[in-house]
Amino acid sequence: MKFVLATANPGKVKEMQELLGELNIDVVTRTDLGIDIDIEETGTTFFENAKLKAEAICRISKMPSIADDSGLITDALHGEPGVYSSSFGGEHLSAEERCSYLLKKMENMEQRSAKFVCTIICVFPEGNYITANGECTGVITTGPKGSGGFGYDPVFMPDGFEKTMAELRAEEKNKISHRGKALREFYALLKAETGSAGESL
Ligand code: IMP
Repeated sequence: MKFVLATANPGKVKEMQELLGELNIDVVTRTDLGIDIDIEETGTTFFENAKLKAEAICRISKMPSIADDSGLITDALHGEPGVYSSSFGGEHLSAEERCSYLLKKMENMEQRSAKFVCTIICVFPEGNYITANGECTGVITTGPKGSGGFGYDPVFMPDGFEKTMAELRAEEKNKISHRGKALREFYALLKAETGSAGESL
């Protein structure tokens, strides 16, 4: 069985391809299928937004569609940016500017605990779905470091590391990331539900 990735974010697509490839799950991207649509994320939870994206792509492609909705939750800012992580500080900011905006908001704040969260959902053409969650706890640094990953990676230091997420190698990030955990959990559920997974589905 072939799956389509419902996300258009290049950072997420790269990581999802790596992670699902390791699990032997055959995926194509929206770009491979020439699906170029804007999906409005009108939900108020990660689950709602992930489902909106997967359902829209499943309707068009008629293929099982896997979507990721994720974000950064900080304690000092009472959960911000949360579901609004991709537009925090303004729609048109670059990732670098968004990190600076976050650092500025948290300037002089002692409480720096935060977590990345991810909801994965796969919607099937029959209308059923499988969903899984993952999180990665850490702290917001006082300055950006590293050039790997995407989004808020340069300002997030995962617990147990002296490096930011953007300084980790891709395999290291995938091992501990919210996305890695959610996709591995998704794989286990898929296997349990279908009796098999990957190429033999
Ligand atoms: P959305 O799921 O499309 O709403 O976007 C999630 C946003 O959260 C991204 O645009 C990033 O800013 C942020 N984000 C999600 N996952 C990660 C990650 O693994 N590293 C850094 N930032 C992330």
